[in-house]
Amino acid sequence: METSTPPDGSGRAAAYDPIAEAYAAENATSLLNEYYNRPAIRDLLGDVSGKHVLDVGCGSGPTLVDLIKGGATAVGIDGSKALIDIARDRVGSATELYVADLAESLPFDDSTFDDVVCSLTLHYLEDWHSPLTEIRRVLKPGGRLILSVEHPLVMWFTALQAGNTTNYFATRPRHVTDMAGQDADLTFWDRSLSTMFKTFFDTGFRVTHLDEPGPAPEALERFPEFFEDKDDPRFLAFLFLVLVPAA
Ligand SMILES: C[S@@+](CC[C@H](N)C(=O)[O-])C[C@H]1O[C@@H](n2cnc3c(N)ncnc32)[C@H](O)[C@@H]1O
Repeated sequence: METSTPPDGSGRAAAYDPIAEAYAAENATSLLNEYYNRPAIRDLLGDVSGKHVLDVGCGSGPTLVDLIKGGATAVGIDGSKALIDIARDRVGSATELYVADLAESLPFDDSTFDDVVCSLTLHYLEDWHSPLTEIRRVLKPGGRLILSVEHPLVMWFTALQAGNTTNYFATRPRHVTDMAGQDADLTFWDRSLSTMFKTFFDTGFRVTHLDEPGPAPEALERFPEFFEDKDDPRFLAFLFLVLVPAA
C-alpha cells in the first residue's frame, strides 16, 4: 500500500528529489552510511522480530530492508518522492510507504509503533518540537525512538575551520550545495547539544542511551587510507541516541 501526499516540490522536504539516484547509490556503500551509521542503528534496534517499526526519513530504504530482514513490519515515510520510489523497488509492494513533510503531522494513529527510527533526518528541520511530539504520539507506551543526528561539535568545528564565525549556541542554517557528487540545494539546521536535549525533554522524552561509536570493523579494510594514521578507529561524525517516552 502506498499513501502519498505529494509535496509541491518547492518545500524543503523534497530537496533530495534531484539527487535521489546518486544519493541512494552513495548511501549504499559509503563509510559514513553503510559502515558507520547503519551498523550503529542496527545495534541499537537489536532484535526487531515481530515489531511494528516506523522509519522516519527512510530515504531509499536501507533501514527498511534491515527491519524487514529482521522480521519486523516496517513502515517508511520521507519527503522525497524520488527516494520513496527507490525504496519501493527495494522493499516491494507489501510495505507501507508515505511521502510527507515531517514538519507536518504524521499520518498515523496514536500508539501505533513499537519503535521509531529516525536516522540522519532531524537535522534538516529547524524546528524539532513538532516532529518529536508527533513521534512520541505514534509510539506505543514503552516504545523507543532510535535516533542519529549530525554531531554538534563536528558541525561547529568544521564551520570554524572554514573561516566562518559561528555561534555554537545558535540554531543556525547551513547550506550545502554538493552531495553525492551532484549539485544540491540542501539546508541543514545545526544546534547545540543542550538545545537538542532541551527539545527531547520538552517533548516528553527521556534519553536512555547516547553513543559516539566506532565504525564497523570491515570499514578498516574497505577504507584503509582513511584509517592509516589513526591510533583509534573511532571518529566524530554523528550522535546516536535512544529516547523513550517519559512516564
Ligand atoms: C541523509 S538522508 C537519510 C536517509 C536514511 N534515513 C538513511 O539514514 O540512510 C535524509 C533524509 O531525510 C529526508 N528529509 C529531509 N527533510 C525532510 C522533511 N522535512 N520531511 C520529510 N523527509 C525529509 C530526505 O528526503 C532524506 O531521505
